[in-house]
Amino acid sequence: MRDVDARAMSAAESAGGKKSYSSLVWGYRQAETVAVMIHVGHELGIFRAMAGKGPMTAAELAQATGLHERWLLEWMRLQAAAKILAYVPEDRFLLPEEAIDVLVDEGSSAFAAESFTGGYTPAQVSGLIESFRTGIGKTYESDGPEAVTRSEARHIRTAERQVVPRMIPALEGVEEKLRRGALVADVGCGDGALAVALAKAFPASQIHAMDPNTHAVAHVRTRAQELGLANLTTFVAPAERFPVAGPYDLVIAFDCVHDMTAPQAALDEIRRRLKPDGTLFVKDIRSKPSFQENLRNPMLAMMYGFSLFSCMASAMSEPGGAGLGTLGFNPEVAESMSRAAGFTRFRMLDFKDPGNLYYEIRP
Ligand SMILES: C[S@@+](CC[C@H](N)C(=O)[O-])C[C@H]1O[C@@H](n2cnc3c(N)ncnc32)[C@H](O)[C@@H]1O
Repeated sequence: MRDVDARAMSAAESAGGKKSYSSLVWGYRQAETVAVMIHVGHELGIFRAMAGKGPMTAAELAQATGLHERWLLEWMRLQAAAKILAYVPEDRFLLPEEAIDVLVDEGSSAFAAESFTGGYTPAQVSGLIESFRTGIGKTYESDGPEAVTRSEARHIRTAERQVVPRMIPALEGVEEKLRRGALVADVGCGDGALAVALAKAFPASQIHAMDPNTHAVAHVRTRAQELGLANLTTFVAPAERFPVAGPYDLVIAFDCVHDMTAPQAALDEIRRRLKPDGTLFVKDIRSKPSFQENLRNPMLAMMYGFSLFSCMASAMSEPGGAGLGTLGFNPEVAESMSRAAGFTRFRMLDFKDPGNLYYEIRP
């Protein structure tokens, strides 16, 4: 009890007492509003219109965008108050140089504007509240078809610029096998950006893209048809039950093990479906085993938000779900679950991706 009191006090002190604690809480309300307004600016092409233009008035911005001047002025003032824009007296606003990578250049690895989705719908929030009562979350499928493609542009960039040219060659013997012709499964494939990139880069290989989300699989199937990728086949299937026996040379599980209701059963199944010299390549959220260590992550609260709305919700979408959640598949858990599935080789790969860690896991 003493410990708890001491910690609560130090939290209050570090927030600077009662008044600052109130500001801390209201700061999150403000952040919620600014986030929606970043989404609005991105959707309307306002950041792009301001890029490289120097300080602009609302009238100049209205002329450049065709949008209404009075609404732009209010939005510009909000963005300047939030320090997203710089204020230049009188009533001119500047998109700073460093904003280009983050808010304008879609090809930049720092591009973030597309991640601002305009907030959660009332139905999502009431669904979350209900989950606290029932203990049961929701599947990715229940988010509908629109959710599948929300981050596709970013996933395509990562797959084409990082995974295929940098990460696959770092895996022992894998690139060579893919060039010659290998059987690959991408479990929890989501929008299929990686499966598509692999099918394009390695035409001699057969890529099986699998996901229990029917919307995701329908999207990947359409993309494969549009691109004429005859070596990409899709399956509606969870990783716990492969529809094809294999044996596979490579199984990919990116950003999905922590979302599964039965991750150990999935790893057991992957182990059964891999060739004796095959590879399981996993990407999961960069996290540490203890909450206290994770507190060093300045975006930790946001990660728990993603968990409650998506990852843990998916991992708890059935009674008895494992519920690992966004921060739950850390290197210790990953290694012990892999060994429990019968894998004997486990190597962590750090590609200096600030959000994720990678694991090469082999029989
Ligand atoms: C965050 S998305 C990641 C998608 C993709 N791998 C990527 O890196 O963009 C998580 C995916 O895991 C899928 N998933 C959830 N439970 C699963 C299971 N039991 N087996 C395979 N995939 C599952 C979801 O449907 C969702 O498409």
